[in-house]
Amino acid sequence: MGNTEVTLCGLRLDNPVIPASGTFGYGYEFCELYDINILGSISVKGTTAEPRFGNPTPRIAECASGMLNSVGLQNPGAHKVLTEELPRLRECFHKPVMMNVSGFSADGYVSAVEILDADPCIGWFEINISCPNVHGGGLAFGTSSENAAKVTAAVKKVTKKPVIIKLSPNVTDICEIAKACEAAGADGLSLINTLLGMKIDLKSKKPLLANKTGGLSGPAVKPVAVRMVYQVWEAVKIPIVGMGGVSSAEDVIEMMLAGACAVEVGAANLVSPFACRDIINGLPEAMEKYKINNLTDIIGAAH
Ligand code: FUM
Repeated sequence: MGNTEVTLCGLRLDNPVIPASGTFGYGYEFCELYDINILGSISVKGTTAEPRFGNPTPRIAECASGMLNSVGLQNPGAHKVLTEELPRLRECFHKPVMMNVSGFSADGYVSAVEILDADPCIGWFEINISCPNVHGGGLAFGTSSENAAKVTAAVKKVTKKPVIIKLSPNVTDICEIAKACEAAGADGLSLINTLLGMKIDLKSKKPLLANKTGGLSGPAVKPVAVRMVYQVWEAVKIPIVGMGGVSSAEDVIEMMLAGACAVEVGAANLVSPFACRDIINGLPEAMEKYKINNLTDIIGAAH
Protein backbone atom coordinates (compact mmCIF):
# COMPACT_ATOMS: atom_id res chain seq x y z
CA MET A 1 0.00 0.00 0.00
CA GLY A 2 1.25 3.50 -0.88
CA ASN A 3 2.44 5.96 1.73
CA THR A 4 -0.10 8.75 2.36
CA GLU A 5 1.96 10.65 4.93
CA VAL A 6 2.72 14.32 4.30
CA THR A 7 4.30 17.13 6.29
CA LEU A 8 2.76 20.56 6.79
CA CYS A 9 4.99 23.29 8.24
CA GLY A 10 7.04 20.70 10.08
CA LEU A 11 4.11 18.66 11.46
CA ARG A 12 3.49 15.17 10.12
CA LEU A 13 0.00 14.18 8.90
CA ASP A 14 -1.09 10.56 8.34
CA ASN A 15 -2.72 11.75 5.13
CA PRO A 16 -3.30 15.13 3.45
CA VAL A 17 -7.09 15.26 3.98
CA ILE A 18 -8.39 18.06 6.23
CA PRO A 19 -12.06 19.10 6.51
CA ALA A 20 -12.26 22.81 5.65
CA SER A 21 -13.27 25.44 8.16
CA GLY A 22 -16.99 26.11 8.35
CA THR A 23 -17.97 22.71 6.96
CA PHE A 24 -17.09 20.46 9.91
CA GLY A 25 -18.11 22.45 12.99
CA TYR A 26 -15.62 22.09 15.82
CA GLY A 27 -15.06 18.49 14.76
CA TYR A 28 -16.49 16.60 17.76
CA GLU A 29 -19.98 16.72 16.19
CA PHE A 30 -18.73 14.08 13.72
CA CYS A 31 -17.36 11.69 16.37
CA GLU A 32 -20.73 9.95 16.57
CA LEU A 33 -20.50 9.09 12.88
CA TYR A 34 -16.96 7.66 12.61
CA ASP A 35 -13.52 7.75 14.25
CA ILE A 36 -12.33 11.19 13.14
CA ASN A 37 -8.74 10.25 14.04
CA ILE A 38 -8.42 8.90 10.50
CA LEU A 39 -8.35 12.55 9.29
CA GLY A 40 -5.05 14.30 8.55
CA SER A 41 -6.23 17.18 10.71
CA ILE A 42 -9.35 19.37 11.09
CA SER A 43 -9.66 23.07 10.26
CA VAL A 44 -12.23 24.12 12.85
CA LYS A 45 -14.97 26.73 12.47
CA GLY A 46 -13.63 30.24 11.92
CA THR A 47 -13.38 32.04 15.24
CA THR A 48 -13.25 35.74 16.06
CA ALA A 49 -12.16 37.37 19.31
CA GLU A 50 -15.77 38.28 20.15
CA PRO A 51 -18.88 36.11 19.55
CA ARG A 52 -20.78 36.70 16.30
CA PHE A 53 -24.40 35.93 15.45
CA GLY A 54 -23.68 35.89 11.73
CA ASN A 55 -25.72 37.17 8.79
CA PRO A 56 -29.52 37.19 8.45
CA THR A 57 -31.15 34.18 6.73
CA PRO A 58 -31.38 32.78 4.12
CA ARG A 59 -27.64 32.18 4.18
CA ILE A 60 -27.36 29.18 1.89
CA ALA A 61 -28.37 28.65 -1.73
CA GLU A 62 -27.79 25.62 -3.91
CA CYS A 63 -26.65 26.15 -7.47
CA ALA A 64 -25.36 24.04 -10.34
CA SER A 65 -22.29 22.06 -9.22
CA GLY A 66 -21.96 23.96 -5.98
CA MET A 67 -23.50 26.18 -3.38
CA LEU A 68 -23.45 29.76 -2.14
CA ASN A 69 -23.03 30.58 1.54
CA SER A 70 -23.20 33.83 3.41
CA VAL A 71 -22.95 32.67 7.02
CA GLY A 72 -21.14 35.77 8.21
CA LEU A 73 -18.62 34.12 10.54
CA GLN A 74 -21.14 32.98 13.14
CA ASN A 75 -19.16 31.67 16.12
CA PRO A 76 -19.21 31.74 19.94
CA GLY A 77 -16.01 33.81 20.27
CA ALA A 78 -12.43 32.85 21.13
CA HIS A 79 -12.89 32.46 24.92
CA LYS A 80 -15.74 30.00 24.55
CA VAL A 81 -13.93 28.11 21.81
CA LEU A 82 -10.85 27.83 24.07
CA THR A 83 -12.77 26.73 27.16
CA GLU A 84 -15.62 24.65 25.66
CA GLU A 85 -15.26 23.71 21.99
CA LEU A 86 -11.58 22.74 21.78
CA PRO A 87 -11.66 20.68 25.02
CA ARG A 88 -14.63 18.73 23.61
CA LEU A 89 -12.71 18.14 20.38
CA ARG A 90 -9.65 17.00 22.32
CA GLU A 91 -11.72 14.25 23.96
CA CYS A 92 -12.22 12.52 20.61
CA PHE A 93 -9.45 13.83 18.31
CA HIS A 94 -5.83 13.27 19.25
CA LYS A 95 -3.92 15.08 16.50
CA PRO A 96 -2.86 18.70 15.97
CA VAL A 97 -5.80 20.91 14.97
CA MET A 98 -5.83 23.76 12.47
CA MET A 99 -7.35 26.79 14.22
CA ASN A 100 -9.11 29.07 11.73
CA VAL A 101 -9.24 32.69 12.90
CA SER A 102 -10.97 35.78 11.49
CA GLY A 103 -10.98 39.44 12.42
CA PHE A 104 -12.09 42.93 11.46
CA SER A 105 -8.76 44.66 12.07
CA ALA A 106 -5.17 43.52 12.51
CA ASP A 107 -5.72 43.92 16.27
CA GLY A 108 -8.84 41.76 16.07
CA TYR A 109 -6.88 38.87 14.50
CA VAL A 110 -4.14 39.33 17.10
CA SER A 111 -6.64 39.26 20.02
CA ALA A 112 -8.20 36.01 18.81
CA VAL A 113 -4.82 34.35 18.28
CA GLU A 114 -3.55 35.53 21.68
CA ILE A 115 -6.56 33.94 23.41
CA LEU A 116 -6.47 30.68 21.47
CA ASP A 117 -2.68 30.24 21.54
CA ALA A 118 -3.02 28.76 25.04
CA ASP A 119 -4.54 25.57 23.65
CA PRO A 120 -1.92 22.83 23.24
CA CYS A 121 -3.93 20.93 20.63
CA ILE A 122 -3.56 23.71 18.05
CA GLY A 123 -0.93 22.74 15.51
CA TRP A 124 -1.37 25.62 13.07
CA PHE A 125 -3.25 28.88 12.88
CA GLU A 126 -5.11 29.38 9.62
CA ILE A 127 -5.69 33.11 9.29
CA ASN A 128 -8.75 33.81 7.19
CA ILE A 129 -8.18 37.05 5.28
CA SER A 130 -10.67 36.04 2.62
CA CYS A 131 -14.23 35.77 4.00
CA PRO A 132 -16.42 37.40 1.33
CA ASN A 133 -19.48 37.67 3.59
CA VAL A 134 -18.66 40.37 6.13
CA HIS A 135 -18.19 44.09 5.80
CA GLY A 136 -15.04 45.82 6.98
CA GLY A 137 -13.07 42.60 7.55
CA GLY A 138 -12.16 39.35 5.80
CA LEU A 139 -11.90 40.18 2.15
CA ALA A 140 -10.72 43.73 2.91
CA PHE A 141 -7.45 42.12 4.05
CA GLY A 142 -7.25 39.42 1.41
CA THR A 143 -7.54 41.75 -1.57
CA SER A 144 -4.72 44.11 -0.60
CA SER A 145 -1.07 43.00 -0.44
CA GLU A 146 -0.37 45.71 2.10
CA ASN A 147 -3.22 44.68 4.43
CA ALA A 148 -2.45 40.97 3.98
CA ALA A 149 1.17 41.57 4.96
CA LYS A 150 0.10 43.72 7.93
CA VAL A 151 -2.15 41.00 9.37
CA THR A 152 0.47 38.31 8.74
CA ALA A 153 3.23 40.24 10.50
CA ALA A 154 0.96 41.17 13.42
CA VAL A 155 -0.13 37.57 14.02
CA LYS A 156 3.40 36.20 13.66
CA LYS A 157 4.47 38.42 16.56
CA VAL A 158 2.06 36.78 19.03
CA THR A 159 2.42 33.05 18.33
CA LYS A 160 5.21 30.55 17.83
CA LYS A 161 2.85 28.17 16.03
CA PRO A 162 2.94 27.98 12.23
CA VAL A 163 0.76 30.65 10.63
CA ILE A 164 -1.04 29.71 7.42
CA ILE A 165 -2.78 32.55 5.60
CA LYS A 166 -6.04 31.67 3.81
CA LEU A 167 -6.21 33.51 0.49
CA SER A 168 -9.09 34.81 -1.59
CA PRO A 169 -9.64 34.01 -5.27
CA ASN A 170 -11.50 37.33 -5.64
CA VAL A 171 -8.38 39.20 -6.72
CA THR A 172 -6.64 40.15 -9.95
CA ASP A 173 -3.35 38.49 -9.03
CA ILE A 174 -3.33 35.96 -6.19
CA CYS A 175 0.44 35.51 -6.55
CA GLU A 176 1.05 39.11 -5.52
CA ILE A 177 -0.91 38.60 -2.27
CA ALA A 178 0.79 35.23 -1.70
CA LYS A 179 4.24 36.79 -2.04
CA ALA A 180 3.33 39.65 0.31
CA CYS A 181 2.25 37.14 2.98
CA GLU A 182 5.43 35.09 2.51
CA ALA A 183 7.60 38.21 2.81
CA ALA A 184 5.72 39.17 6.01
CA GLY A 185 6.60 35.83 7.60
CA ALA A 186 3.75 33.45 6.74
CA ASP A 187 4.71 29.80 7.28
CA GLY A 188 2.19 28.55 4.72
CA LEU A 189 -0.78 29.50 2.56
CA SER A 190 -4.19 27.93 2.09
CA LEU A 191 -6.27 28.55 -1.02
CA ILE A 192 -8.83 29.12 -2.31
CA ASN A 193 -11.65 30.54 -0.22
CA THR A 194 -15.00 30.93 -2.00
CA LEU A 195 -15.70 32.94 -5.15
CA LEU A 196 -18.11 35.82 -4.72
CA GLY A 197 -21.46 34.98 -6.36
CA MET A 198 -25.18 35.70 -6.41
CA LYS A 199 -28.44 33.82 -7.04
CA ILE A 200 -31.67 35.62 -7.93
CA ASP A 201 -35.00 34.13 -6.89
CA LEU A 202 -37.31 34.19 -9.90
CA LYS A 203 -40.48 34.37 -7.78
CA SER A 204 -39.46 37.37 -5.67
CA LYS A 205 -37.19 38.68 -8.45
CA LYS A 206 -34.65 39.59 -5.76
CA PRO A 207 -31.32 38.11 -4.61
CA LEU A 208 -32.07 34.88 -2.74
CA LEU A 209 -29.49 35.38 0.01
CA ALA A 210 -30.37 37.98 2.64
CA ASN A 211 -26.84 39.35 2.28
CA LYS A 212 -27.43 39.45 -1.52
CA THR A 213 -24.02 37.95 -2.32
CA GLY A 214 -22.36 34.79 -1.04
CA GLY A 215 -19.30 32.61 -1.53
CA LEU A 216 -19.45 29.91 -4.23
CA SER A 217 -17.91 26.56 -3.35
CA GLY A 218 -18.18 22.98 -4.60
CA PRO A 219 -17.08 21.17 -7.77
CA ALA A 220 -17.78 24.29 -9.90
CA VAL A 221 -14.76 26.08 -8.43
CA LYS A 222 -12.22 23.24 -8.62
CA PRO A 223 -10.55 24.24 -11.91
CA VAL A 224 -10.10 27.79 -10.57
CA ALA A 225 -8.59 26.42 -7.36
CA VAL A 226 -6.22 24.07 -9.19
CA ARG A 227 -5.09 26.93 -11.44
CA MET A 228 -4.42 29.21 -8.48
CA VAL A 229 -2.57 26.55 -6.46
CA TYR A 230 -0.44 25.89 -9.55
CA GLN A 231 0.35 29.60 -9.99
CA VAL A 232 1.04 30.26 -6.29
CA TRP A 233 3.36 27.20 -6.12
CA GLU A 234 5.53 28.89 -8.75
CA ALA A 235 5.47 32.22 -6.88
CA VAL A 236 6.41 31.18 -3.32
CA LYS A 237 8.57 28.67 -1.41
CA ILE A 238 6.28 28.10 1.60
CA PRO A 239 3.86 25.12 1.73
CA ILE A 240 0.39 25.34 0.24
CA VAL A 241 -2.84 23.77 1.48
CA GLY A 242 -5.07 23.40 -1.57
CA MET A 243 -8.86 23.54 -1.47
CA GLY A 244 -11.84 24.28 -3.66
CA GLY A 245 -14.32 21.68 -4.88
CA VAL A 246 -12.36 18.64 -3.74
CA SER A 247 -14.69 15.65 -3.41
CA SER A 248 -12.69 12.53 -4.32
CA ALA A 249 -9.29 10.90 -3.85
CA GLU A 250 -8.53 11.80 -7.48
CA ASP A 251 -9.22 15.47 -6.69
CA VAL A 252 -6.73 15.29 -3.80
CA ILE A 253 -4.09 13.91 -6.17
CA GLU A 254 -4.82 16.65 -8.73
CA MET A 255 -4.49 19.37 -6.10
CA MET A 256 -1.17 17.88 -4.93
CA LEU A 257 0.17 17.66 -8.48
CA ALA A 258 -0.60 21.38 -8.78
CA GLY A 259 1.49 22.04 -5.67
CA ALA A 260 -0.52 21.41 -2.50
CA CYS A 261 1.12 19.44 0.31
CA ALA A 262 -2.22 19.05 2.11
CA VAL A 263 -5.80 19.38 0.90
CA GLU A 264 -8.93 20.74 2.56
CA VAL A 265 -12.37 19.37 1.75
CA GLY A 266 -15.26 21.81 2.16
CA ALA A 267 -18.63 21.72 0.41
CA ALA A 268 -18.42 17.92 0.00
CA ASN A 269 -18.93 17.59 3.79
CA LEU A 270 -22.33 19.22 3.37
CA VAL A 271 -23.30 16.68 0.71
CA SER A 272 -22.16 13.74 2.88
CA PRO A 273 -20.80 13.88 6.43
CA PHE A 274 -18.68 10.87 5.43
CA ALA A 275 -16.99 12.68 2.51
CA CYS A 276 -13.55 12.99 4.16
CA ARG A 277 -13.65 9.40 5.42
CA ASP A 278 -14.56 8.15 1.94
CA ILE A 279 -11.83 10.24 0.28
CA ILE A 280 -9.21 8.89 2.71
CA ASN A 281 -10.42 5.33 2.17
CA GLY A 282 -10.22 5.89 -1.60
CA LEU A 283 -6.62 7.15 -1.57
CA PRO A 284 -4.81 3.76 -1.66
CA GLU A 285 -6.77 2.57 -4.71
CA ALA A 286 -6.32 5.90 -6.54
CA MET A 287 -2.59 5.87 -5.73
CA GLU A 288 -2.26 2.36 -7.08
CA LYS A 289 -4.20 3.30 -10.25
CA TYR A 290 -1.90 6.26 -10.93
CA LYS A 291 1.28 4.44 -9.84
CA ILE A 292 2.01 6.66 -6.84
CA ASN A 293 4.01 5.06 -4.02
CA ASN A 294 4.47 8.17 -1.91
CA LEU A 295 2.03 11.07 -1.92
CA THR A 296 4.85 13.44 -0.98
CA ASP A 297 6.58 12.66 -4.30
CA ILE A 298 3.77 14.18 -6.37
CA ILE A 299 3.64 17.62 -4.71
CA GLY A 300 4.08 20.10 -7.55
CA ALA A 301 4.87 17.30 -10.03
CA ALA A 302 2.64 18.89 -12.68
CA HIS A 303 5.14 21.73 -13.13
O1 FUM B 1 -19.63 33.58 5.95
C1 FUM B 1 -18.79 32.82 6.43
O2 FUM B 1 -18.77 32.54 7.63
C2 FUM B 1 -17.75 32.28 5.53
C3 FUM B 1 -16.48 32.43 5.77
C4 FUM B 1 -15.48 32.23 4.72
O3 FUM B 1 -15.80 31.80 3.61
O4 FUM B 1 -14.34 32.52 4.97
